[in-house]
Amino acid sequence: MTSRIIGTGSCLPDTVVTNDFLSTIMDTSDEWIASRTGIRERHLVKEETTASLSIEAARRALAEAGVEPEELDMIVVGTLTGDHITPSTACEVQAGLGAVNAVAFDINAACAGFIFGLHTVNAYIRSGMCRLALVIGAESLSRIMDWSDRSTCVLFGDGAGAAVIRAQENGLMAYDQGSDGEKGKYLACPNRTNNNPLVQTDKILAYTKMDGQEVYKFAVSYVPASIQKVLEEAGIAPSDVKYYLLHQANLRIIQSVAKRLKLSQDKFPISLDHCGNVSAASVPILLDEVNRKGLLEKGDKIILSGFGGGLTWGTCLMEW
Ligand code: UT7
Repeated sequence: MTSRIIGTGSCLPDTVVTNDFLSTIMDTSDEWIASRTGIRERHLVKEETTASLSIEAARRALAEAGVEPEELDMIVVGTLTGDHITPSTACEVQAGLGAVNAVAFDINAACAGFIFGLHTVNAYIRSGMCRLALVIGAESLSRIMDWSDRSTCVLFGDGAGAAVIRAQENGLMAYDQGSDGEKGKYLACPNRTNNNPLVQTDKILAYTKMDGQEVYKFAVSYVPASIQKVLEEAGIAPSDVKYYLLHQANLRIIQSVAKRLKLSQDKFPISLDHCGNVSAASVPILLDEVNRKGLLEKGDKIILSGFGGGLTWGTCLMEW
């Protein structure tokens, strides 16, 4: 028994913020952002929350799958920007949908969060503990950016993507995932302050700091290796995969992976131009866009791959 995706959905906040707008509030330009990253605009939350975006994305995925919320056994949300420390975003989604029979919890694996969620659900499915699940990647990253640090805040966006997963004979074919905590310092958001009476600490602000070049080096070496591992395990040639749906951090990273695998860029759909980097939500938003454009046919093979904070990475090969 394995996991098959039977419906996808996504939801982006209403407000679009262009590179040109950012250049009116900080020392940056459309030229710098677009040429270094491929990003032209991103959606940022105003009234929306991580939970509200997740619930809407989930409703759309359930509608496509023809599944009622009460039928769900599990809800797993990959996020590093849940609206509260507790309850989890997954529990808020459960309440919002009325998915009364689902067990719900979040996974924090940063930009690999959706893929880790998929693999976790797959393990539950294989053990017989789950039959029908919802996996979501959702972020409100704009809340944890330092808006005076142009080297990070221009890169990220907000949004949510969801997939309904059913236990079936065909679907997830092979996977790889890993973590390298030694490199965690290269992408960090240290936002915990100890408020107990025994310790006096300076207030630590909740913002994200990234050593872009270190994360870049990590991505262009670990991601192609992870993809190759999965392809080898499944005995599939790179050209047999219809699409490679990679975490949308930087167009140059995606181009580098395509080159390493000796594949045409056409096999690597892009959403970062209009979404920016949405961490855990990147892959499921892109998957939903590709699905809704009608680009996937039954039996197609696709690779999903996420990488980022932790540092973490995860890749899976899926039959559609
Ligand atoms: O989702 C998690 C995964 N994340 C990633 O994969 C991110 C990986 N890293 C990257 O994508 C790239 O490293 C960045 C896009 C973040 C940065 O590109 P870079 O080519 O590594 O630029 P840099 O950091 O070396 O900065 C080059 C210059 C610097 O100026 P000087 O020192 O050369 O004068 C920066 O101050 O660009 C400057 N700069 C900017 N200029 C205009 C940095 N940010 C900006 C900006 N606008 N927004």
